[in-house]
Amino acid sequence: MVEPFLENQTLQEALNNKRIFIVDLEVLQDICCKDDRLLSIQLFQEKRPDNPVFLPSDPPNTWLTAKMYYNNADASFHQSCTHLGFTHLLMEGVVICTHRNLSNSHPLFKLLAPHFLFLLAINTRGLYKLICPNGWVDKTMTVGRKGMFELIKKGLTRWHMNVHGIVPNEIKSREVESDILPHYPYRDDALLIYYTIRKYVSKVVHRFYDTDEKVLNDYEMQQWRAELVKDRKLGGCGLLGVPGEENNRFTNTEELVDTMTSIISTCSLGHAAANFQQYDDYAFPPNYPGILYGEPPKDKLPLPDGDILNRIPNKETTLDIMVITKLLSTRATKSLGDFESQFMFHPACIQASEEFREELAQISRQIKLRNRSQAFPYDWLDPEFIPNAISI
Ligand SMILES: [Fe+2]
Repeated sequence: MVEPFLENQTLQEALNNKRIFIVDLEVLQDICCKDDRLLSIQLFQEKRPDNPVFLPSDPPNTWLTAKMYYNNADASFHQSCTHLGFTHLLMEGVVICTHRNLSNSHPLFKLLAPHFLFLLAINTRGLYKLICPNGWVDKTMTVGRKGMFELIKKGLTRWHMNVHGIVPNEIKSREVESDILPHYPYRDDALLIYYTIRKYVSKVVHRFYDTDEKVLNDYEMQQWRAELVKDRKLGGCGLLGVPGEENNRFTNTEELVDTMTSIISTCSLGHAAANFQQYDDYAFPPNYPGILYGEPPKDKLPLPDGDILNRIPNKETTLDIMVITKLLSTRATKSLGDFESQFMFHPACIQASEEFREELAQISRQIKLRNRSQAFPYDWLDPEFIPNAISI
């Protein structure tokens, strides 16, 4: 079926040449939708006569509608998991756990604190104003509030810090390395920034933990780790894959550096990549519909233009989508490394922060230079536009 679109390759050749990419949004299966709309129908998890594989050669509006439903599924996953669940809510647990277990004078508290700015405030506002019953999410998203929480719950059973929270591992897990996909600016920028954060974290951590012994014996920090992994039902964060799993504790500085880097990069570049494109992507609903009305197509019959118009949100809902995504895409805090509040005063830490800022400025120049020659510049991860924390 797909062979006519493979530019003279067979499917096997295209697979061997690593030219076929698959997005499996299987996680959406069985997630409830408002008004009992079933997303799984167009997600092709089961082989069924009424679950056709739509192709570019199908009638134009049918193909367009199939693409809109794919993007609707992608948007449901993006808003629930990539953005809200895996950055805002996951990090809220980490913030609480940090305040419960680490003293304000603990070096790791001081390292993390600038990256927690306004997170509790924005989450409280978001939960009461956007994710409340009959609120914005219920009005503008197919999954609605209930489906969104179900999806986050399911997504969190699959999120592992040592895979999804560590940029190089996450990219490796998706097999999108540069020899396969040369143009993938998210990957290239995220990796550069991740390693820069890691270098900075490593300098600070090693200043206070020059031996693994000191890591092992820091009961305050070990208690912090224990609560990060503790079951949510027992009041912990329930995080999976936190470094040090084999021994159920941190045993060396590298595990500590990886954990700190994962948290700081999730709060900064991870959230920035998921958050600030919301207006560009969502504000024109046919491009990336958070919500579609009616049943997804179950056959390849041609569809009239009016059919598409009936599926997309009306003027009022579109305006609601535009206003909120515009607000959420606003940057009102300082850039990564340029901390609103300074917590670390040790000369070695001040020097590490200065070097961190210099390296980020260099990356910023590099990205700006690259973007000048791009038809579609990618500046979402220009460090100048990445805030320190999840503040919006
Ligand atoms: Fe956000």
